[in-house]
Amino acid sequence: MSSELNDVLAIGLPALVIGVASLTLMIHRELGPFSGLNTAGKWLLTAAFGMGLLAFGLKMAVAVALDLRAGTPLLAQFAIPFSQAGAARSERFANPAPPRAPRYVWAALPEQAPSPADNPTTAAKVALGRRLFFEKKLSADGSLSCSSCHDLFAKGGGDGLSRARGIARQRGPRNTPTVWNAAFQAVLFWDGRAPSLEEQAGGPILNPIEMGLASAAEAERRLAADASYRADFAAVFGDDRPPSFGRLTQAIAAFERTLITPDTPYDRFVRGDETALDAAQLRGMALFETVGCVLCHRGANFSDASLLGSESARRLFPANATPYEDKYRLLLADGQRGVWRVPSLRNVALTGPWLHNGAVDQLEEVVRIMAGAQLGRSGQLNTWLNNDKMLGRIDRSPLGDGEVADLVAFLKALSSDSLVARRERKNR
Ligand code: HEC
Ligand code: HEC
Repeated sequence: MSSELNDVLAIGLPALVIGVASLTLMIHRELGPFSGLNTAGKWLLTAAFGMGLLAFGLKMAVAVALDLRAGTPLLAQFAIPFSQAGAARSERFANPAPPRAPRYVWAALPEQAPSPADNPTTAAKVALGRRLFFEKKLSADGSLSCSSCHDLFAKGGGDGLSRARGIARQRGPRNTPTVWNAAFQAVLFWDGRAPSLEEQAGGPILNPIEMGLASAAEAERRLAADASYRADFAAVFGDDRPPSFGRLTQAIAAFERTLITPDTPYDRFVRGDETALDAAQLRGMALFETVGCVLCHRGANFSDASLLGSESARRLFPANATPYEDKYRLLLADGQRGVWRVPSLRNVALTGPWLHNGAVDQLEEVVRIMAGAQLGRSGQLNTWLNNDKMLGRIDRSPLGDGEVADLVAFLKALSSDSLVARRERKNR
């Protein structure tokens, strides 16, 4: 016998006997005189009530004992705090409608990018950073600058290649992302390994297959040999120490913080110009929310890796198996799924080919891949229906061509007006 059962019998049985006896006596004294019966009749009435009470008490005792024996805690029901029991009951009987998810809030890009306390943006620092961004001395053979791969105007801040081409025409492993609006990203690079623009800027200069300088000291030596750089660094940083690699990265980062594009049809629309988007773009905007792109590409910089608010900067990609992963070699070399920083989608229409390996050169196809691989829109799907607590089969049919076209139209509304105009002029 369990110890709880012993406890129940030890306390419960005497309590039952005393309870039944005193109730019976009360009935005999209170009810007896009113009944108008003779003595035998009074005792008969009392005994009838007493038996009823005893039977009820025994029944409860047996139920509790059996319950404990079976290990089903009927008693535990009495142990549920009252408030909780009430909630459980109202859930069961009132069956309230599930709370409606709050609607997604669209945001325009701020006019200025935030800068860290130890590297405030000043006009002189930005000008020095711009000069360094275009400086070919920072590559081993003097053939490349940052702008060789990040062509600000002709290629939307990228290079238009599927994978980057460094010094001596070496092919890098990854696609070149745009530097426009990188200032709003909380982590940089496709895998998000750089925590700031300052940390990032030194990387390509010393990377053997990018700009290939032997060392930071070599960059400092080359800049110090140029009197105009010595003067610029002294003016910007307010002392006459020779140019250092740390200050070089600070100046480049300050320049990059000015590479932002709040001048898009989307931003004009969100700021109140109702005519800024056409019908297809509006349909695409609605789909972008309802299909679920905003789960990852959210906030004013269309990325959950943004300084403007980030919850989950990196995501598994591709998250679901689709035929695309073989077609475009989307898996890592070891066949695993990669974890990638969620890229911003601003100016994305200007920066193809797309994805970390630059394998896709149609934006429509990227949208289909995203819908299938990231949102499971690839057919019938077995899934856990959390609200109903059951396994369900839901229709997750791939996006139709019209929906894909509308989503692409919306992505084009994220292109900067001035970048589009300058690109058209440059590429004419
Ligand atoms: C040879 C081509 C090449 C050169 C030269 C180059 N980059 Fe890049 N850049 C890339 C590639 C490729 C990546 C992505 C690398 C990765 O994710 O592993 C990248 C990433 C970046 C990023 C991160 C963007 C983001 O959203 O994550 C920034 C910022 C950047 N480069 C700035 C610079 C600066 C500043 C210079 C000059 C000092 C420079 N790059 C020189 C090819 C280049
Ligand atoms: C679960 C998170 C997630 C969802 C949902 C998602 N994406 Fe993505 N998206 C990513 C990640 C991660 C990448 C980077 C993939 C890579 O590195 O190859 C990406 C890349 C992209 C790119 C290519 C960017 C570039 O510069 O190459 C586009 C375009 C894009 N997504 C659009 C969409 C659209 C449209 C939707 C909705 C149909 C969507 N995404 C839904 C996480 C997501």
